[in-house]
Amino acid sequence: MGFILAATGSAIGLGNLWKFPFITWENGGGAFVLIYLMCIVGVGLPIMMAELLIGRKTQKSPVGALKEAMGPWWGWVGAWGVMAGFIILSYYSVVAGWSLFYFVKTVGWSLGGFPADLQTGELFTDVIGNGGLQFLLSGLFMAATVGIVYFGVHGGIERVARIFLPILFVILLLLLASALTMEGAGEALAFIFRPNFSELEPRSVLEALGHSFFTLSLGMGAMITYGSYVARNRSIVSAAGTIVLLDTVIALFATIIMFSVIFTVPGMSEQVGRSAAGMLFISLPELFYNVVPFGAVLGPLFYVLVALAALTSTISLLEVVVSYFIDERNMPRPKATLLSGAAIFVFTVLSALSFGALPALSNFEIFEGKAGVFSTLDHFASNWALPLGGLLITLGAGWFMTREATEGELVDETTPRWFRYGAWRFFMRYVAPVAVAAILIAVIFFGMDFS
Ligand code: TRP
Repeated sequence: MGFILAATGSAIGLGNLWKFPFITWENGGGAFVLIYLMCIVGVGLPIMMAELLIGRKTQKSPVGALKEAMGPWWGWVGAWGVMAGFIILSYYSVVAGWSLFYFVKTVGWSLGGFPADLQTGELFTDVIGNGGLQFLLSGLFMAATVGIVYFGVHGGIERVARIFLPILFVILLLLLASALTMEGAGEALAFIFRPNFSELEPRSVLEALGHSFFTLSLGMGAMITYGSYVARNRSIVSAAGTIVLLDTVIALFATIIMFSVIFTVPGMSEQVGRSAAGMLFISLPELFYNVVPFGAVLGPLFYVLVALAALTSTISLLEVVVSYFIDERNMPRPKATLLSGAAIFVFTVLSALSFGALPALSNFEIFEGKAGVFSTLDHFASNWALPLGGLLITLGAGWFMTREATEGELVDETTPRWFRYGAWRFFMRYVAPVAVAAILIAVIFFGMDFS
């Protein structure tokens, strides 16, 4: 149970609460959601099973696990994953830090009143452009992450997941119940669940696919690491099913909540949609105090939810890096944790200062356009690190591991009856690699950008 919660906590994060609602918005709703669900079931779920089974079979973290399961060269795929974890964590904690700020801010507004003349857009720009504050917020977040991983998987990660995840579910259900009573709820549900395929572009399909990697924490070995903690008397198939189902439900709930709020305010739907950050940190704070019933209670709850969800994800990202140093470099956990945390924080600071605080980091020439450190790192992770890692892990599990090796982990007396090993193998060998390769082809040859 601890493992399932920890893995679910890794999956549920800013990807669900921040990215998914926004890309659903950008891609026109229903049809995109449907395609996303197909990607989750047809690609995400089989790869989730693959990563978990590799971890349980080898009882190792990604580098050692891939070497043992597939051959010596595959250690590089694991190393690529460790690097991806390093990079994602570095910029992820910046946004996580913002949620911390908005939590404190909304508590203040709930107690002292929301200033009538406040421009939430300006507030946000000021906050992200304030170097000292950014340093402090992302530093606090990294410190919390390091503090938990320091105590190990059972003493730290699982314990936190056990406590935080139920809290997160309760808060989300409260918010959902409130959202469904709002005037805009009907319109929101129609937008999310009524597919209109005429608006769908090929790009949206690949974006949905790329996001399924990010949101399920796949493509970099996080689930290999967690797989090594799954007990023998548990089914990998049901574990994967549970994690994927919970992650998807939470993403949909978050989307329903945000869109119900947005559709309730006349004219709001034209104003949002500039950026994901805008939705979460500019539009919503205002709405909590002017539109949402009980917003003064729900507002702070919402931001604490975002922060907790982010924290259960950052610990899994750090754990991938830390377990590499423990397993492959024989470092004691405390040293590995502090060292990796410190190294990652250097990059975090660069990202945190790339929203105006340090112009040199905020806007530099890269490829054809200008970008800041933050978006460059996000771009690299979403377009390269996860798809490439995912492709290689998929090919490895489908083509380089024997049928006996994978079947032995997936099929036993604990396996649920709906599972068909033959179907899994077919998806791993043909469907998933082709789909994931399409992302890379779109990035390389068509210059698409999925971050
Ligand atoms: N899945 C998390 C989210 O949706 C992000 C995340 C955590 C992640 N660990 C990961 C992404 C490992 C890729 C790999 O927010």
